[in-house]
Amino acid sequence: MNNQKVLDQLNRPLRDLRISVTDKCNFRCTYCMPAEIFGPDFEFLRRDQLLSFEELERLTRIFVETLGVQKIRITGGEPLMRKDLHLLISKINQIDGVEDIAMTTNGSLLPKYAEALKEAGLKRVSISLDSLKDEVFGKINGRGVTVQTVLDGIDAAAAAGIQVKINMVVKKGMNEDEIIPMARFFREKGHILRFIEFMDVGNTNKWKLDDVYTKKQIIEEINTVMPLEPIAPNYLGEVASRFRYVGSNDEVGVISSVSDAFCSSCNRARLSAEGKLYTCLFAANGHDIRTPLRTSLSDEELSTHLQQLWNGRNDRYSEERGHVKRDRSKVEMSHIGG
Ligand code: GTP
Ligand code: 5AD
Ligand code: SF4
Ligand code: SF4
Repeated sequence: MNNQKVLDQLNRPLRDLRISVTDKCNFRCTYCMPAEIFGPDFEFLRRDQLLSFEELERLTRIFVETLGVQKIRITGGEPLMRKDLHLLISKINQIDGVEDIAMTTNGSLLPKYAEALKEAGLKRVSISLDSLKDEVFGKINGRGVTVQTVLDGIDAAAAAGIQVKINMVVKKGMNEDEIIPMARFFREKGHILRFIEFMDVGNTNKWKLDDVYTKKQIIEEINTVMPLEPIAPNYLGEVASRFRYVGSNDEVGVISSVSDAFCSSCNRARLSAEGKLYTCLFAANGHDIRTPLRTSLSDEELSTHLQQLWNGRNDRYSEERGHVKRDRSKVEMSHIGG
C-alpha cells in the first residue's frame, strides 16, 4: 500500500488519531456537557450508529499503515461507558506501527477496569480532576461525584502500571484558587498535572474570554511559591508546554489553546463515535467515514479517500480565534473527546 508522507495544506503530517468510542458520559461537567442541555431527554447516539470494534480496527490499521499515524488516543464522552472497551484496545495494540495507546477519562470507572485495560495494552491515561474540594468538584461535574472517586481511579491506574497524567481545566471564578493546592498535591503524589485553559469548544458552555485564566497567570502564580523552569517538548506537536520545579525532575504542564495557540504543529485527526472525521477540535462539520466504510470500498480506496481529506485540511482555529465569526456552530466536546 501507498506509504508516502501525507501532508495537509499547511505542511503538517498526521501522527495522532483520537478515537471517540461513545458520546455518553456519567458526568455533566459544566464546561463540557452542561446538565441543563444534556438532560434526561437528550438523545445520544444509538448503538447501530456507532462504529463497531471491527470497523474501528480496520480504520485504525489503514491510518497507521498508510497515513503515518503512530499514536492512538481513546476518548468519549467517557470512553469507559462503552462496553468491553479493553477488547478494542487489545485489537489496536496488535496493529504493527502503533507506538502508543492512551485514553482520556474522568477516572470514575478505572477501579473496575484498570487491570483489564493494562493487560490489553493501554499505556497511558489522562484523568480529569478540576478541584480537591468535594463541594466545588461536585458542582463542576454536575453529578455530585466526590474527589475520592477520581483519586481511587488514579490510584487504580497507577497500581495497574498505566502511566498517569492529570488534566485540570482552569476557569476564572470556578477553581483558580486551587492551582497551587493541586500543583502541590500531584507533585507529592508523583503525577504530572496539566492545567488547561478554558476553551470555547462546542456551542453550549457559555465561554467568554474573560473567564480564561491564562498560561502566563498560571505559571507566574506557581512560580512565586515553587519556582519553575521550561523544558523541551517530548515530541513535535505536543499540546502541553512543559515545566519542571527547579532542582527536581517533577513536572507540570499548561495547555494554552487560547492565549498561546499551537496549531502550526497540530498533527491530530479526530474520529467521532459515529464515524465522522474532524480535522480540528473546533470544526463545524465532520467528514462521514461510516458510509464509505459500510459500502464495499477496498482498504486502498478508503486510504485514498482519507488522504484526500487530510491533504485538503487547512484548520488553524485557535490561531484565528479572534477573527472567526462568533456564532459559527462547532462540534460538541462530547462528540470528539477533546
Ligand atoms: P499527550 O499524548 O499526553 O500529549 O496527551 P494530550 O494532552 O494530547 O491529550 P488529552 O486528551 O489529555 O488532552 C488534554 C487537553 O488538551 C484537552 O483539553 C484537549 O481538549 C486539549 N487538546 C488536545 N489536543 C488538542 C488540539 O489539537 N487542539 C486544542 N486546541 N486542544 C487540544
Ligand atoms: N475547555 C478546556 N478543556 C476542556 N475539557 C472539556 N471541556 C473543556 C473546555 N471547554 C477537557 C476535559 C478533559 C479533556 C478531554 O478536555 O476536562 O480533560
Ligand atoms: Fe464527561 Fe469528560 Fe465532558 Fe466531564 S469533561 S462531561 S467527564 S466527557
Ligand atoms: Fe489543531 Fe484545531 Fe487545536 Fe489548532 S485549534 S491545535 S488546528 S485542533
